[in-house]
Amino acid sequence: MSTPAPINRPALSVEDIHALIRDERAALDREIERRLNSEIVLINQLGRYIIQSGGKRLRPALLLLSSKAFGGEGSEAVTLAAVIEFIHTATLLHDDVVDGSSMRRGRSSANAVFGNEASVLVGDFLYSRAFEMMVEIGELAVMEILAHATNTIAEGEVLQLINCNDPDLREDQYLAVIRSKTAKLFEAAAELGAVLGGRHAARPMMATYGRHLGTAFQLIDDALDYGADNDRLGKNIGDDLAEGKVTLPLIHVLRTGSGTERELVRDAIARGGLERIGDVVAAIESTGAIAYTARRAEGEAELAREALKGLADSPYKEALLGLAHFSVHRDH
Ligand code: IPE
Ligand code: IPE
Ligand code: MG
Ligand code: MG
Repeated sequence: MSTPAPINRPALSVEDIHALIRDERAALDREIERRLNSEIVLINQLGRYIIQSGGKRLRPALLLLSSKAFGGEGSEAVTLAAVIEFIHTATLLHDDVVDGSSMRRGRSSANAVFGNEASVLVGDFLYSRAFEMMVEIGELAVMEILAHATNTIAEGEVLQLINCNDPDLREDQYLAVIRSKTAKLFEAAAELGAVLGGRHAARPMMATYGRHLGTAFQLIDDALDYGADNDRLGKNIGDDLAEGKVTLPLIHVLRTGSGTERELVRDAIARGGLERIGDVVAAIESTGAIAYTARRAEGEAELAREALKGLADSPYKEALLGLAHFSVHRDH
C-alpha cells in the first residue's frame, strides 16, 4: 500500500489546473476582448491596458472549475467568468487610486499612466458592463450573488480606509476587512459554480470554501507586501505601510515585539510613509511575523479544503484543492 500524500501537498500543479480548463480559458480571453469594446477610445485603451497586462485570472478559474465540478456545461460559465474578472479589475483600478499605487501586473499602474480620473471612470465602466452581462444570463440567483458581493467589496474598502493609521486595530477588525474586500469575490465565484450546475443545495459548501480560500489569499498578499520581490510580484512592495494600512504582519509585531519594536510600528502606522520601512521590516523579521501570517493562511486553506469534503471526487475537485495550496504557496 502506498503512503497517502500529506494533506497540504497539491495533487495538481497550477499548469495541470489550467490544462483542465484550457478551452474555457481561451473562450474567456475572447469574451473579455469582445465585451471590452466601447465607442469611447479611452475606455478601450485603458481597459485593454489593465486587462491585457495579464494577472493570474484566479477568480475566473475558480468559477470555471466550480461549475465543471457540478457538471455545468455551456457558455454561461465563460460569460460569468468574464463578469468576475471585470469586477475584480474594476476593484483594482479603484484600489490603485485609493492606495496611490504606481505599479500593477508588472507595469506602471493605470492611474500612473492615464491619471486617477480616467482610472476611476473606466473602473465604473467595467462594473456596469459586468452588470449588463449578468443580466443577460437572466437568473435571479446569479444577480443576487454578484450584486451582494460587489456591495460587500465596496464596504470592505471603505472600512479599510477608516481603519488606516490606527495602531490599535484588532485582528478581528482586520479579518473583517479582508473577508469583505477580497474573500467575498472568491466566495461568489465558487458559489456561482454550484448555481450553474443547478446544485443550489451545494451553495453554502462552495461559499465556505471560497471564503476561506480568499482569506488565505489576502493574508499571503499582505505578507508579500513586506517580503516579495517587486519584479516577481508585479507590484511595489511597501504600499501597505506607505498608507498606514494595518495588516496581520504589523499586528503580530504589535503583539509580540519588544517595547522599541512596538513603538516603532505604532508610530509608522500612525504616520504612514516609508521612512522607517527598513526598521519595520527588521521588526517583522525578528518577530517571525511573516511565518505567523503564512501559518494563519495555511489554517484558512485547510478550512477551505475541509469544506470540500462533501463534493464528489473529480479532477475539478482536485484542482479546487490545488488552488487552496497555490493561494498560500506563491510568490506573486
Ligand atoms: C490582487 O489580486 C488583489 C488582491 C485581492 C490581493 P490578484 O493577486 O489576484 O491580482 P491579479 O489579477 O493576479 O493581478
Ligand atoms: C486588495 O487589497 C484590494 C481589493 C480587493 C480591491 P490590496 O490593496 O492589498 O491589493 P493590492 O496589494 O493593491 O493588489
Ligand atoms: Mg492596493
Ligand atoms: Mg496588497
